[in-house]
Amino acid sequence: RPSGEKLPLSVLIAAPRGFCAGVDRAIEIVEKAIEKYGAPVYVRHEIVHNRYVVEGLKEKGAIFVEELDEVPDDMPVVFSAHGVPKSVPAEAERREMIYVDATCPLVSKVHRQAERQIEKGKHIIFIGHAGHPEVIGTMGQVPEGQMTLVETVDDVGKLPFGQDEKISFLTQTTLSVDDTAEIVNALKVRYPNIVAPKAEDICYATSNRQEAVKAMAPGCDLVLVIGAPNSSNSLRLVEVAERLGTTSHLIQRASEIDPAWLDGIGTVGITAGASAPEVLVREVVAKLAEWRDVREEKIRTAEEKMVFKLPRQLTD
Ligand code: F3S
Repeated sequence: RPSGEKLPLSVLIAAPRGFCAGVDRAIEIVEKAIEKYGAPVYVRHEIVHNRYVVEGLKEKGAIFVEELDEVPDDMPVVFSAHGVPKSVPAEAERREMIYVDATCPLVSKVHRQAERQIEKGKHIIFIGHAGHPEVIGTMGQVPEGQMTLVETVDDVGKLPFGQDEKISFLTQTTLSVDDTAEIVNALKVRYPNIVAPKAEDICYATSNRQEAVKAMAPGCDLVLVIGAPNSSNSLRLVEVAERLGTTSHLIQRASEIDPAWLDGIGTVGITAGASAPEVLVREVVAKLAEWRDVREEKIRTAEEKMVFKLPRQLTD
């Protein structure tokens, strides 16, 4: 179709979106580890949940595995941004391996709080999604049986603890801000003496990206979220848009856009999860521009200036 015939499409782009400081740092850790130790460098679990990022690092010399026992003793290994149970670095020490921990500092902060609560004799209720690596990592900071996972308000009702038991709660960093508030409320109603985390455990990047979608979605006919199906914070962005009544799809690449989604639509919103690189946003806009006469506009709800230091072993 000649360009003169393209229908107009207004494209709103959420800001903040995409890479957070923890993801930036984790990717840089793998790159710096390859520079320092030479390729290959092993990475336990996808460093961040994004195929494009993982493929890019493979080309530079990273080898991705799921478990430490897949890594030879004499090879350096990086632990992913999601964090690992204590048993993993302990095993690496025992095998005298070189390892670099790319756990996001905001996840590590939750790990340290968990340890402190256990020292104080508390049982911890952990709000999170079963099976997510961050949840496995955080639950693996404390002895087995001392942390109980809840995923929903319903789960709170099923907790076996009495009102006078010493309990506290912590949360995963990439949850829905609204759902978590409801679960926390239910916990506080059931356990008025429950000890809350010092500050919200949901990270700045997760809440900022949800806020931006809340501002953008009501003005959109469709919201595209760029992110991986196993990326918790990306899935939450789809939910935020859907709850405001706007159809939303999670896509990994521009090639996953079904042109039929655009039928009769005048405004598309775009955002990206914390592990999705900006090139993929540009790829999506370029794809839309093949079909429609695109006019771009940014919807910014916050500025982000967070930067995390690299581990000292890579900067010395
Ligand atoms: Fe860290 Fe939040 Fe990103 S916990 S890795 S800053 S999504």
